[in-house]
Amino acid sequence: MSYKRISDEMENLLNKQVTKEAEAAQVFLAYGSWADTMSFGGVAEFFYKHATEERDHMKKIISYINTRGGKTKIEAISAPPANPKNLKDCLEKALEHEIQNSKAIDRIVDLALEEKDWATFNFAQWFVEEQIEEEALINDLIDKYNLATEADENNANLYDLDKDLKSAPQHISTPREH
Ligand code: FEO
Repeated sequence: MSYKRISDEMENLLNKQVTKEAEAAQVFLAYGSWADTMSFGGVAEFFYKHATEERDHMKKIISYINTRGGKTKIEAISAPPANPKNLKDCLEKALEHEIQNSKAIDRIVDLALEEKDWATFNFAQWFVEEQIEEEALINDLIDKYNLATEADENNANLYDLDKDLKSAPQHISTPREH
């Protein structure tokens, strides 16, 4: 693209976000692998898929920078943190990671607003929505973890009940229909 339609500052911030998304993928890949070694197959699958999503986010931003005539810089990424202490620690750290990422997205929105860069403002809204969903998803896993492990004698039953309700029908035949 011959004409650059984003500011240098925005280009720089978006490039930083490319690196953050790549780092998020590394973190979740590491958590997935840790869960695998702990025989938490479901958790491992969740984090492996999540790592792939983060890489998709990274590619989405690269494509946007290039489309707006900017230059993408693929930087080195830092190593993921040490393995979590346990499953609760893993989920809480994953949530904290998502919250930090939401804040980074907010800075892009702030700058777009300040510069009246409505194209980037609009582009960033997809990420705002995505972060709401991702935070809620991991928050929900923490709630489920608590439900499954709290020392309340009926909790395990509630956990199973919730799984059954997932496939509960939306319609039930009544005597009048027979
Ligand atoms: Fe792409 Fe979970 O942030």
